[in-house]
Amino acid sequence: MLSVHDVEKSFGGIKAVDGCSLKIKKSAIVGVIGPNGAGKTTLFRIISGFEKPDNGTIVFNGEDIEGVTSFAIARKGLIRTFQISKALTKLTVEENMLLAPQFQHGERIWNVWLRPKDVKRQEEENIEKAHALLEFLGLLRLKDEYAGALSGGQKKLLEIARALMADPKMLLLDEPFAGVNPTLAMKILERIKELRDNNGITVLVIEHDMPKIMQLSDHIYVLNKGKVIASGAPEEVRANEQVVEAYLGGVWGELR
Ligand SMILES: Nc1ncnc2c1ncn2[C@@H]1O[C@H](COP(=O)(O)OP(=O)(O)O)[C@@H](O)[C@H]1O
Ligand SMILES: [Mg+2]
Repeated sequence: MLSVHDVEKSFGGIKAVDGCSLKIKKSAIVGVIGPNGAGKTTLFRIISGFEKPDNGTIVFNGEDIEGVTSFAIARKGLIRTFQISKALTKLTVEENMLLAPQFQHGERIWNVWLRPKDVKRQEEENIEKAHALLEFLGLLRLKDEYAGALSGGQKKLLEIARALMADPKMLLLDEPFAGVNPTLAMKILERIKELRDNNGITVLVIEHDMPKIMQLSDHIYVLNKGKVIASGAPEEVRANEQVVEAYLGGVWGELR
């Protein structure tokens, strides 16, 4: 589904991503972990088209996508989550869903050629879809609340719900468990698994939280200083000496 080959990105003298390669099969859940500053977010931004790599190739679903705009990548079905920005906190949960970025853009262009009746029907379909997704993520009863009134975990669920409005083939999640209470984190984890099991969605999760990523992923890549230092099934990665070293005193310590 996604193949990242030898991707590099420097900022000034810093090699944020230093020759990364990943291969992700269709309907897999793949985790990328690593200590702070390892290059995880930069890699995420490169894959989703928000940053141009200096070098390397990225193939999504058979198409070359490095250097392609983030909008065009989203249209191909590779969808990332966005943090609920300050402006969006002043809108309701339902309004947030109907303004989902990747979703809204194309619809608006298309609507120009539609008759008013069709526009109305389209709107009704969008609302139905938004409600179904909110229900799936346990947020439907909160649809008229301001997004700003949600807890950290509920905001993360809303971010995922918004991404799903675009019918992704593949979902990119950056730290979906950060600042989320354990109960809600488990729920997010279960929902991600269901999306894969029931809808065949491929998922790439970038995460700091080692125990969660171990529970969630089929395959894990460990990044350190911009390089993949280990990869494999969760048990293999857990047993890897280099990984233990990279994490000593950090999150790894908590796991053991
Ligand atoms: N826009 C940028 N300008 C300069 N340096 C950056 C930029 N983005 C990231 N970096 C640097 O690249 C390295 C990797 O950062 P990042 O990808 O955010 O790591 P992670 O998400 O794993 O914590 C860090 O040293 C960071 O300071
Ligand atoms: Mg990061």
